[in-house]
Amino acid sequence: MSPTAEHFDVIVIGGGAAGLFCAITAGERGRRVLVIEHANRVGKKILMSGGGRCNFTHLEATPAQYLSANPHFCKSALARFTPWHFLERVNRHDIAWHEKTPGQLFCNHSSKDIVAMLLADAAAAGVTIRTGCSVVQVEHADPIRVATGQGLVTANRLVVATGGLSIPKMGASDFGYRLAAQWGLPLQPRRAGLVPFTLHPPVLAQWSPLAGTSAEVEAVIQAGDQNIGPAFRNHMLVTHRGLSGPALLQVSSFWQDGAELVINWMPGAAILEWLEQARAQTPRRKLKTLIADRLPLRLAERLEQVLADAAVPMDGTIADLSRQQMGQVEQLLGSMRFQPSGTEGYRTAEVTLGGVDTTALSSKTLEARSVPGVHFIGEVVDVTGWLGGYNFQWAWASGWAAGQAV
Ligand code: FDA
Repeated sequence: MSPTAEHFDVIVIGGGAAGLFCAITAGERGRRVLVIEHANRVGKKILMSGGGRCNFTHLEATPAQYLSANPHFCKSALARFTPWHFLERVNRHDIAWHEKTPGQLFCNHSSKDIVAMLLADAAAAGVTIRTGCSVVQVEHADPIRVATGQGLVTANRLVVATGGLSIPKMGASDFGYRLAAQWGLPLQPRRAGLVPFTLHPPVLAQWSPLAGTSAEVEAVIQAGDQNIGPAFRNHMLVTHRGLSGPALLQVSSFWQDGAELVINWMPGAAILEWLEQARAQTPRRKLKTLIADRLPLRLAERLEQVLADAAVPMDGTIADLSRQQMGQVEQLLGSMRFQPSGTEGYRTAEVTLGGVDTTALSSKTLEARSVPGVHFIGEVVDVTGWLGGYNFQWAWASGWAAGQAV
């Protein structure tokens, strides 16, 4: 490596949400900071997030909405840098926002507002950003040496903010995991999260004709009859490849090979009581028209077919149903089981579960215990939020925690 390296107090590898926020925090503390980004621009995932409107935080974010082998790890950073702190910055920049569901904040206009805010604050804090810059080698020496495609740079502190594996075409790489492995840090297994499910061909053939149909459901993952993770009530969407929509993206983070997806098509309804009531009040109605009262017609027709396959007669009246058949209807509408063939994987996943094992890091500074001066932040760490702005909140909070320490 050339001896005439440019020196910084802090080098951040990765110009995404966490890296930029860490750089701003450190820069505002007077540190001389360099951000190295291998893509042609920073913040690409921010730009595509929230359907182009960036769901930049969730006001009710608590550690309970994060998955990690150590659920306590995220507590310190989340408590010290809260959604209100981030919102204060958004408001300072006069970015118009709205609350979509309670606590879930989106830009009114565009995700570009958040990237513009970060770039403005980075410039004001004197942060140097190099895009289109690849990292060739990192050497943990004193100072830390980073060989890049644009020359050698050195720093007293290095922050690894290279994100997860999702959406490779946006610049995602396994670089952070490889660096962690290079220094002997443990890694939790990685897998795609917040990702649509795929179905086995015969099941897909039954459901894909409904592609585009959406309904509010309650979804949960079960192994045997044990729930894995919480149940989520939200929309589900049938696609050409399988099942998606926010409720299903949420539970996908809890799914493991072999586990089943269980859908309640009538969330919040006491199905048996509803049937009893219909039997008492409108005994001559047909079950299929009753179901179509509550669900989109195409979906009601599909469920009708599923019930017919289970030998529940669909042509007779509700009064014709036996007690046992009413129980079957309750079972199928209240907990229909799917065995996914898998997920769509990193191509469409919003996040990567797993990553740098938190036992290797300080929860206060995100510094690697065995590699002094090196910090890991954001999605590369084994902390993954639910859908709803929680992942950005982790990026801001972990970036802030490291930015305070470097
Ligand atoms: P991020 O991925 O943002 O940044 C990592 C950066 O490092 C990238 O710019 C990458 O190019 C760069 N990099 C990687 N390897 C490198 C290398 N070797 N050298 C140099 N640079 C390198 N979350 C949320 O809270 N609300 C939302 O609305 C959404 N919406 C959403 C939509 C979609 C389609 C996706 C894919 C994801 C979301 N998310 C989200 C998740 C959110 O985008 C994600 O959790 C954060 O961007 C993670 O921030 P990081 O900075 O850790 O990684």
